This record gives sequence, C-alpha cells and structure tokens, in this order.
Amino acid sequence: PMLGVVLVAAGRGERLGAAVPKAFVELRGRTLIEFGIAVATSLPHRGHLVIVVPEQRAAQTLDLIDSIVQPDSSWSVTVVPGGRERHESVSFGIDALPESVNTVLVHDAARPFASAELFERVISEVHRTGDSVVPALPIANTLKRVDAEGIVHETIDRTPLVAVQTPQGFPRETIAAAHATAQLHTDPPTDDAEVVQRAGARVRTVTGEMRAHKLTTPDDLRILEFFLAANVV
Ligand code: C5P
Repeated sequence: PMLGVVLVAAGRGERLGAAVPKAFVELRGRTLIEFGIAVATSLPHRGHLVIVVPEQRAAQTLDLIDSIVQPDSSWSVTVVPGGRERHESVSFGIDALPESVNTVLVHDAARPFASAELFERVISEVHRTGDSVVPALPIANTLKRVDAEGIVHETIDRTPLVAVQTPQGFPRETIAAAHATAQLHTDPPTDDAEVVQRAGARVRTVTGEMRAHKLTTPDDLRILEFFLAANVV
C-alpha cells in the first residue's frame, strides 16, 4: 500500500488579484507550490504526489520538482492539468494516482505552511478509523446571519461549528467512488469532505492548526509573511 497526495494548484486566485495563479505567488523567493511539494515529499511514507496545475505551468512545475525531490526519494511525483472547478482538478488528480495507493490526502497549494505533523495526524486517523478525516479549528468570532444589504437577522450558535482546512484524508475507494457518482456541477462543493458527505460517508475531525492558513486575499499574504518573519514556520 502507498500514500497518495493530490496537491491542487490549478486555481486562478481571482480574489488575490495577483499577476500569476495563486499557487505560483512567491513568499521569500519560493512559490507556494514549492512549500507544498517539500512537505508532502518529506513524509516518511512510500508515496505518490500528483500536482494539479494550470496547463501552461506544467513545465515550470516539473523544474521545481527536480530541484526539490531527490532521485532516491520514497516519493514519485507527476503533474496533471487542472479543471475549471476545484472538484474537477481533484478528480483529475485522483485519477492519476497509481493503483497501489489506498489512502489519499487532498491538499490546497494555497496552504503552504500546513505542517508534516498535521499531515501525519490526518493519515493516522484515516488508518485508525477507515473514515474520511478533516483538520478543524473552533470559531473564535461571533457569527451572524446577514442579508444582501448587510442587515443582521440572527446570531448563529457557534458551539457545534468548526472551520475546516486541508490536508483532508480519505480511503481511496471512498473518495474515488464519491467523485464517480456525485452530481457536483449544479452545486459545486467547497471542500473534499463535502463530496464524500453527499455519498453518505462518515467524516471525522482532527485538530487543525493556525499555520495551515489559506491564502485567499492580499491580507492573507501578510499573515503568511508574518509566519515566516516570526519563525512560526
Ligand atoms: O480558490 P480556492 O482558494 O478555493 O482554491 C483552493 C485550492 O484549490 C487552491 O490551491 C487552488 O489552486 C485549487 N484549485 C484548483 N483548480 C480550480 C480551482 C482551485 O486546483 N479550478
């Protein structure tokens, strides 16, 4: 058995407004995708990493792999082109995994500082339970439901709510079967657990981490730069 990691990096990153796709934005001279490749291939497993990128970024990605992954690594790495929606990119990535992969992690390249410990926590829980697993953090802010004009209608009880991150982990057959059957195009899922939830699978949580913060807006870029400057990562 082998571990599979699908690193999704094919989004345009429109909310960031950068000149390059989000996963190719640089922090201290390294693209986000490089951080993801480094952490995945540092895991002490026999594994296969599929990186899903915009078609025109494939050559650059292959060069990055050559510079990061040693020839004697226990990891093999391939690159595939992405789709219009995130779930399509994930599906293409899963299809590109070798037969022997039995556990799949899906990770956003936009979360460059997710730690190896977080990857291992997710992997262990998938292996222990046979269920799907997401990293989750409590919600700090009070939540309000508002209308299109920004008028508050109610306060939402946050006690049972969590905010989820990636890497998200799955038994391969669970995520592959869910992608094969789910009708995702009319109502696209915003994470991978939602795909298996729609197929009726149980999803568990493990403790997430602040450093797995996702780059979405220019403010997030400052947060990630702070993590580097303060040696948090
Ligand atoms: O846009 P968002 O922040 O939700 O994207 C999360 C991750 O999914 C990013 O790493 C992005 O590159 C990836 N993605 C993708 N293919 C898409 C859309 C997003 O690989 N069509």
